[in-house]
Amino acid sequence: MRRFIVIGHRATTSASFKLDDLCGGAGRLDVLLRCINSAFFLSHDIRRDVEMFLVLLGPPSSPKTLRFVGNELKYLNPDERSTGALVRNALMQKASGEERSSPGIYISNRSYPELFSNISKETKVVYLKEDGADIREVDFPDDVTFVLGDDQDLTPEEEESLMAYLPNKVRLGPISYHADHCITIVNNELDRRIS
Ligand SMILES: C[S@@+](CC[C@H](N)C(=O)[O-])C[C@H]1O[C@@H](n2cnc3c(N)ncnc32)[C@H](O)[C@@H]1O
Repeated sequence: MRRFIVIGHRATTSASFKLDDLCGGAGRLDVLLRCINSAFFLSHDIRRDVEMFLVLLGPPSSPKTLRFVGNELKYLNPDERSTGALVRNALMQKASGEERSSPGIYISNRSYPELFSNISKETKVVYLKEDGADIREVDFPDDVTFVLGDDQDLTPEEEESLMAYLPNKVRLGPISYHADHCITIVNNELDRRIS
């Protein structure tokens, strides 16, 4: 299983956002929607071996964590607006525990420390960061989870919470990339190792 965790620092936790204002009023939700595309979409298929967590930390009721499960997903299309509508449906749920809002999409009130704590029991955690070890020099187990920021880096508090689980710090190249591009690069690096 490949997993990705993206921290959405300003991403809205209300369902009242407008689909034509994803990058403004929705707190750069557009970045997270592109990350979903990069995590799951192949040319004519969906990656079934991917699970993705989006941690929404914007107002009015953070935190909320969305979980996307590749082998259950239905109704996911490559355009940002339709995925934005799926996220909006999820945010309409009253999440006590984890609730399914549509096939393969779940929402909870989990915070990032809870998420890191749970995930680190199941999988090897990798922190994507520009000053880490070169990805081409690092071996990964089959079950691996990559953590990254959205359009902003992890804050010192988020980084401290993550570092408690002793992640490998890994860089994808010498310069800073968009979060969705990072996911594409990781998928490609891992694909090349199994084909
Ligand atoms: C758009 S970047 C965040 C802001 C960026 N660091 C900047 O200076 O503008 C989004 C996230 O992608 C990851 N990232 C970007 N470039 C990377 C690289 N070359 N290697 C590893 N991770 C990277 C980091 O987790 C980063 O927080």
